[in-house]
Amino acid sequence: MAKELEWFDNTEHEILRVANRCHTVLFFMAFNFDMLSWYAGGGSRPLGSAAQSISRAVKGIDTVKYFNGQEMEISLYGTAVKAAGLAYNRIAKYAAFQNAILRFLTLMVFVQGFWYATTLVTRTTTFQEYSGYMTAFWACLIAGQQIETIFPLVIVLEKGKYAASNLRRLTMVDVEFDLTRRRAGVSPRKCNGFIAFQDVRFHYPSRRDVAGLNGLSMFVNAGETVFIVGKSGCGKSTLANLLLTVWKHNSGSILIDENPLEKLDRKWIHDNVTYVPQRPALFNESISRNIRFGKANTDNLTHKDIWRVCDDVFLTEVITGLPNGLRTKLKSGGTNLSGGQRQRVSLARARLRDTSIMILDEPTTGLDEATKVLVMNTLREWRKDKTTIVITHNLSDIRPNDWVYVMDAGRVVQVGERRTLEALYQGPFADLLKNVETPYEESIPPESCYEESLIDYYMDDPEKENQCPNRTTILPFVENSINAFRQSLAPRAHKSFNPSRVTFQNHRATTAAPPVPSRSQTIKRATSQSRKRPRRTRQSMEEIPPKPECKSTIMKGQQGLRHIFSTIGPNTSWSDKLGIAIGLLCCIVSAAATPAFSFALARLVYIFFTDLSGTGTKAAFWALVITGIALLDAVTSSLQLFLLEKSAQRWIDSVRIRAYGLVMSQARSWFDVDKNKTSRIAQDLEGNAEEMRNLLGRQLGFAVGALTILGIGVGWSFTQDVQLTAVGLVAIPVLLLVLRVFSWVTERCEERCNGESEQLAIFLRDMLDNLVAVRTLSLKGYFDHKHHRLLRRSLSAGRKRAVCTGLTVGLSDTGVFLATALLFWYGARLIVQNGLALEKALTVFSMLLFSLSNSAATLRIVPQVSI
Ligand SMILES: Nc1ncnc2c1ncn2[C@@H]1O[C@H](COP(=O)(O)OP(=O)(O)OP(=O)(O)O)[C@@H](O)[C@H]1O
Ligand SMILES: [Mg+2]
Repeated sequence: MAKELEWFDNTEHEILRVANRCHTVLFFMAFNFDMLSWYAGGGSRPLGSAAQSISRAVKGIDTVKYFNGQEMEISLYGTAVKAAGLAYNRIAKYAAFQNAILRFLTLMVFVQGFWYATTLVTRTTTFQEYSGYMTAFWACLIAGQQIETIFPLVIVLEKGKYAASNLRRLTMVDVEFDLTRRRAGVSPRKCNGFIAFQDVRFHYPSRRDVAGLNGLSMFVNAGETVFIVGKSGCGKSTLANLLLTVWKHNSGSILIDENPLEKLDRKWIHDNVTYVPQRPALFNESISRNIRFGKANTDNLTHKDIWRVCDDVFLTEVITGLPNGLRTKLKSGGTNLSGGQRQRVSLARARLRDTSIMILDEPTTGLDEATKVLVMNTLREWRKDKTTIVITHNLSDIRPNDWVYVMDAGRVVQVGERRTLEALYQGPFADLLKNVETPYEESIPPESCYEESLIDYYMDDPEKENQCPNRTTILPFVENSINAFRQSLAPRAHKSFNPSRVTFQNHRATTAAPPVPSRSQTIKRATSQSRKRPRRTRQSMEEIPPKPECKSTIMKGQQGLRHIFSTIGPNTSWSDKLGIAIGLLCCIVSAAATPAFSFALARLVYIFFTDLSGTGTKAAFWALVITGIALLDAVTSSLQLFLLEKSAQRWIDSVRIRAYGLVMSQARSWFDVDKNKTSRIAQDLEGNAEEMRNLLGRQLGFAVGALTILGIGVGWSFTQDVQLTAVGLVAIPVLLLVLRVFSWVTERCEERCNGESEQLAIFLRDMLDNLVAVRTLSLKGYFDHKHHRLLRRSLSAGRKRAVCTGLTVGLSDTGVFLATALLFWYGARLIVQNGLALEKALTVFSMLLFSLSNSAATLRIVPQVSI
């Protein structure tokens, strides 16, 4: 018993000593991981700007094509991708450096452990003590191997950590409006619809220099319909957003039925105030569902009710013309409908909702003259006796006896019935009327705000000029268009819209400023010119057949590895190809270091068993050999990591810039195909491209390494003892079978997981794009439910993948353990019965175990890096 305890003490002592070394290694790792995390963070920023670039250009593809901006977009994308590539190279360089140190230190732990063990062994004579040292040593060896398997995952881990900390940041933000609080404030039983704005002032937090509202005062009686007019940017939509509590006013007061807004329950406000925004908020749902969103409780809602509201807004004909009628699924933002049709779906929803207060922001924009009149007449009919605020640029919507508020620079500057205001030949309203003669704004189809921002992007931001090396090739086109357009306007300049004349500082003033259009106005005109001939232009774009090479390069279905790797040649420079060749050579050398290490180790172990007298010197020699191997392994494995990662990054950068170029040159109709959605293109060029990089950057290296180790290990073992090696190799067919089943199963699981996460991404984008509508239409419940459903499906797909992965990894481990047990048992039998030399048996054990466990570890790593 005393001996047993002594043995235990010794063993524990050893393990603790080696563990101490491990702690040093781990401390170093922890320190470096933080540095890597810092690099990983830096790398994702340029990648974010590349993703934004794709999203902006693909969503606004019409504008890109009108302005012939493909080259500029490709160039901007290329710049962002290259910046991301450089950042990734820095990460790879750092990870390679870290890998070198860690690999070296881990192997050195064994040398140190053995060095110390030799000292102990020379002092001891009992077999139990030997076995104690051996147990401690093998325990450390296995622990070391496990640490080694972490190395290739360092970048993956760090990127995951960075992503998690970003997500955490989102979960920690303070919530200004807690939508989950059901009743927070007064909820009067009835809403009469009286509205008052008293000296309301408001600044958007991002633009403190410009007043959104600047002392606005206005009153709307219950049941009244009033109109708000004023030049663009004077604060009309801001007023609506404040009433809906989307923003909070800075000073003054807003009352509904004499209750200050801040005292009212937010849900009550949203239940009683409907806002039909300028840009219709349409979701990636069926037309029917989009209209039904108007009602909180749709239980009693029949198909007939939906058709009735569609009738009211003259939408029936449009819907019956669609192949799936009311069930037609809209794209996010309703982009598969025309501007006027979107507007009417949004109006149909408002019609169904029909709350006591309704604000319609440019409800007739995008409609033809006849439909405009019909829609306005019906609107007046169904909003009779209910408070209605119509914001409009279209003065023909306003009848002589309608009450009008004229706004300018964030406040009301003129009030009265239209006929009274019209009778004054001077003043803000009169100025607006003068400019109605050339209603070019009316002919502009309501493009998304997004496209306008893209136009501004091309034209207004001088910084972008610097970012785009090819800008000189694009600007002449744009500027020529503008000049041509200016000239075409010249003969009828007196009719043109001149916003500089519409300055309403006070009721009387009209400035005598010369009618020089500002740059952005000129651009708007150019845009409107482009838009005036859109049908022809679009049609002509539709007619351009996709280039044949475009068709062939857009991949269909899953590609074989051979096909994927065949794209390396045309997409990499000679220096990258050399880098790949050196990287693969390093893989082989680094892999060869493992059996060499096992061989040196076997010699060391053999010395313990046989040659106690000379243990010190011989052990020192083999310890030095191991140090040399550790150095070689550290250098080659790091070179491999860096060179392959760097070349792989260049490869995918080149592929994605080429692919993006092809996407931009596709005919307009190509973008309407479902599988060419913005989210899909972004996913292919970003997430999927990164997966593709891993094929060359990591998985090819692992595969070459595993094959080399296996080849050397098995070959070497055969030279020692054929019989024993043959028995040990029983595990290989098992491992191959597991690998085959594994890749088949993970492929399927991966497909499903990708599909689910794409659905989730589309949903999130759809919801975030229409966040204001989600809040004001009280749709949080519906979207929460949908989000949970998609999350559940995604989770279930992930769970299945985890089970499959876990089972296969477990099976491969079991295979290795069984093979190990078999090898040891059969080896012992051969030693005892056939007189096999211990030295040879130990070499075979060590070689086969290392090579088999390394292959099994590769099996584990390959799927993990691809997750
Ligand atoms: N989210 C925002 N962040 C910062 N500034 C904004 C934001 N929305 C509007 N603004 C600014 O506030 C001012 C008033 O904008 P608002 O949208 O109310 O104008 P508008 O009268 O509705 O114009 P339009 O007739 O073109 O729709 C403008 O100067 C605008 O640039
Ligand atoms: Mg507006």
